[in-house]
Amino acid sequence: MQQLLKEIPEIMRVNNGLTLLEDEKEETCTENICFRQYRQLAHYFSLLCFLLTIVTLLLTLCLVQTTLVFRAQSTLQETKLRDLTHRLEKLNKSYHLLFSQYPALNQYCPVSNSTTAERKCSLCPAGWTPQGEKCFLFSQDRADWISTQYRCMTLGGAVATVRTEDEQVFLWKKAQSLSQGDSYWLGLRSSGAHGGWQWSDGSKVEKGPQFWEREPDSTADSRELCGRLTPGDNYRRSWFTSRCSNSLRSICERRQASLQ
Ligand SMILES: *[C@@H]1O[C@H](CO)[C@@H](O)[C@H](O)[C@H]1NC(C)=O
Ligand SMILES: *[C@@H]1O[C@H](CO)[C@@H](O)[C@H](O)[C@H]1NC(C)=O
Repeated sequence: MQQLLKEIPEIMRVNNGLTLLEDEKEETCTENICFRQYRQLAHYFSLLCFLLTIVTLLLTLCLVQTTLVFRAQSTLQETKLRDLTHRLEKLNKSYHLLFSQYPALNQYCPVSNSTTAERKCSLCPAGWTPQGEKCFLFSQDRADWISTQYRCMTLGGAVATVRTEDEQVFLWKKAQSLSQGDSYWLGLRSSGAHGGWQWSDGSKVEKGPQFWEREPDSTADSRELCGRLTPGDNYRRSWFTSRCSNSLRSICERRQASLQ
């Protein structure tokens, strides 16, 4: 008990000391440190607000500029599109005018794709095969020589003539690939006794290379004879004589397209 009584003032002292300490601390805070801390905080806060305002302003500026640039670009693109559409319409008009005023263009530039109306141009009309400076048309229909010549003329040409070895090789190969052994009329015609052989355009056959199977003796036969191509093994010996009234397949020729 005495021990406790002894200790009470001690405890009181300690308690007082604590209270005293706390009081001291409070006083210091209000007067010095805390006030300074609040001011600093306020400073930081206003600085933060200022920075935020600046950033917001910058962002707004950026946005405005982007919008302006975008609008300018889309205006430019609209102008370009309108210009291109206008040019396309003009081209389309010229294109249609060209094909309506020059119907022959349809022959040389036929529509190759009906879906897209795409055209492909060639030096020869559709169906004709280009070779050298000519176009050739092989027909599987049979007719006599005169009918064949008329038919070729209505197609803008004549029965095929052979002026060079290249042409001979080409015709021989093509005839072989189309029908082994079948005969095709060439533009060869004898003009009766002693008249000699002529091409369908009236020129003399003797002036160019010849590929007769057997040299025809024009003096021996006064009948009208015509020449055919029968593609055998040897292209050098593939022209034969035939009665002009025989019905054979045919080859027409015409010149390639030229703007001169
Ligand atoms: C081109 O003109 C023709 C008629 O003139 C029309 O039918 C067609 O739609 C036009 N095409 C374009 C792409 O304008
Ligand atoms: C036509 O053109 C269309 C589109 O390009 C394509 O799909 C089609 O195969 C073409 N047809 C022919 C026959 O070339």
